Amino acid sequence: MTMQTPTGNPVPLPGGLPDPAQLAQLANAFFSAPPGGVGALHQPGAPQIAAGSGATGGVPGALPAAAPALASVSNLAPPGSPLAGPGGTGTGVPGLTLPQGRVPGANLLPGAPTHVLSLGNRAPALAPHAAAQNGLPDQAVSVLPALEPRAGGAALGVPKQGGASASPFYFLDDALRAGSPAAAHVATQYDAPALHADPRAFGLPTQDDLRDLLPLHREGLRANDARDLHPAQSSHYALDEARAAAHPRDQARTAPFAAVRAPFDVDAVRRDFPILAERVNGRPLVWLDNAATTHKPRAVIERLAYFYEHENSNIHRAAHTLAGRATDAYEQARETVQRFIGAASPDEIVFVRGTTEAINLIAKSWGEENVGPGDEIVVSHLEHHANIVPWQQLAARKGATLRVIPVDESGQVRLDECRKLFNERTKIAAVTQVSNALGTVVPVAQIVQMAHAVGAKALVDGAQSISHLRVDVRALDADFFVFSGHKIYGPTGIGVVYGKREVLETMPPWQGGGNMIADVTFERTLFQPPPARFEAGTGNIADAVGLGAALDYVTRIGIENIARYEHDLLAYATSVLAPVPGVRLVGTARDKASVLSFVLRGYQTEEVGRALSEEGIAVRSGHHCAQPILRRFGLEATVRPSLAFYNTCDEVDALVSVVRRLAARRG
Ligand code: ALA
Repeated sequence: MTMQTPTGNPVPLPGGLPDPAQLAQLANAFFSAPPGGVGALHQPGAPQIAAGSGATGGVPGALPAAAPALASVSNLAPPGSPLAGPGGTGTGVPGLTLPQGRVPGANLLPGAPTHVLSLGNRAPALAPHAAAQNGLPDQAVSVLPALEPRAGGAALGVPKQGGASASPFYFLDDALRAGSPAAAHVATQYDAPALHADPRAFGLPTQDDLRDLLPLHREGLRANDARDLHPAQSSHYALDEARAAAHPRDQARTAPFAAVRAPFDVDAVRRDFPILAERVNGRPLVWLDNAATTHKPRAVIERLAYFYEHENSNIHRAAHTLAGRATDAYEQARETVQRFIGAASPDEIVFVRGTTEAINLIAKSWGEENVGPGDEIVVSHLEHHANIVPWQQLAARKGATLRVIPVDESGQVRLDECRKLFNERTKIAAVTQVSNALGTVVPVAQIVQMAHAVGAKALVDGAQSISHLRVDVRALDADFFVFSGHKIYGPTGIGVVYGKREVLETMPPWQGGGNMIADVTFERTLFQPPPARFEAGTGNIADAVGLGAALDYVTRIGIENIARYEHDLLAYATSVLAPVPGVRLVGTARDKASVLSFVLRGYQTEEVGRALSEEGIAVRSGHHCAQPILRRFGLEATVRPSLAFYNTCDEVDALVSVVRRLAARRG
């Protein structure tokens, strides 16, 4: 095995194991080039630069030959096809160029005011782009921090501390709080803007510069704020049948929200997510695996870094400054979650590792206490394994029964049959709000009502809904609502159990240890009230803070704006994927979010996944941890592209082009 220095010299790596000293030398040489230092990087043999498209051949000394990945399949669409580009001249497949600077939805409705979402004068999306060498990731660097200027603690949502307004979680003694020199020093350091990254130091515009550049965006944010305070009542996922049958361009034209669509610049949003500039297999990354996990905006990445650089400590225990900062940050994140899902109190928010742990907590704590022999637990046919297995285990331990709500051919639950499943033996209904495998949006509010009507509790699995639609747990009246941070642009390893306070208060702890106790003797232990009762041991403090930053980010964009954009994108994607010969869409419910599960005649799903991956397009293929629902449709696996608000019509076109090419080969 060899590696090459930026000057092209091969370095032997005996036995395939890099020598640390050589690695350090390599890294030093590689990174000594200044970011964006075009001149330096253009020295002979240096990694090559390609502006804009960022294409690189990875051949030392050669200028990048940006062969369009998908050029061979362009111009397939006849004029008038939804795939035809604005000029009717092709598929709209962008070749190698990511749709930076392109109007999202341009293929859907050229020139439609509802889709003119871009900012007027954008700076280039990408910095000159160093070629990936020596196996290092082929990354591009954003010139502009896009929608979100880089900034310090205040912009990152760091809790303000010190002085009389210190939060109740801040355990500094009174002398410090009263403004002693030490306190002043801490406060100054902590709040001083000079300590935070100043955009001007990197030649970047300041927040004010950006605001001046982005009047449209500013108006948009005002509009978003107004809408967030008064969220629309209607579901934007409900395509009415006439619109669903119509051409997608007409759908957009007649969309009820068209007149009020807020400016939502997908290109600016994309620049908030550094990984979207990544190249994979020599192609721009097209991330359509959002149901598996979402990418993280810079606001989250920087908030995590800030935590470890300025706040890192265990919480609740030590009366020292960093313990106070960490505790404030953690508890502020809990309040952010509370607000985001409309809970009545932060005490109703329990941090866990993710949705799976959340459901296990409820099954093992509430379930152990409340489910007995002969009792029934209602789940739907759509459930993820995480919302089946813990209930199955509980039922087996207790002699209870699992009852399953059937779904129709479209993949929607049958409410008529559902109603018949509830009776006096029903103890809990546990249902997903959005199916991870099919994308079905389930009418969970009605199922919650059915459960309550027989005195049962209701759990809503929000793992797949939280990032796509407004969740209001009080309006839903669910007893429990659970979700994972990583599905909503936050870190992995952090998730949430929302439980109604009166329900949580009746539940025993499920794990014992530190943090969850009020007092311990060898004879007995007194437990803390919720939420601490359910947070034994040291939790994932930093990632809880990161989750708070993710929810703040989504709030700034506006979840209703995200929902509208994704609705249009899903409608567009459906309209161009479904007609491909040999494609069978699995999951065609009227209310859907994000997901396009399909199989392709003549192909194993993993073959399709591989072909897409070769073009830099990431989708999940397999059973999606939801085997029962796939088997309901006679399948063991599907290909599952899943969308987020940073995806574009161009990316959908890139996907469809590969599928069309495959279909043509074995059709
Ligand atoms: N639950 C995740 C998915 O659906 C992992 O892919």
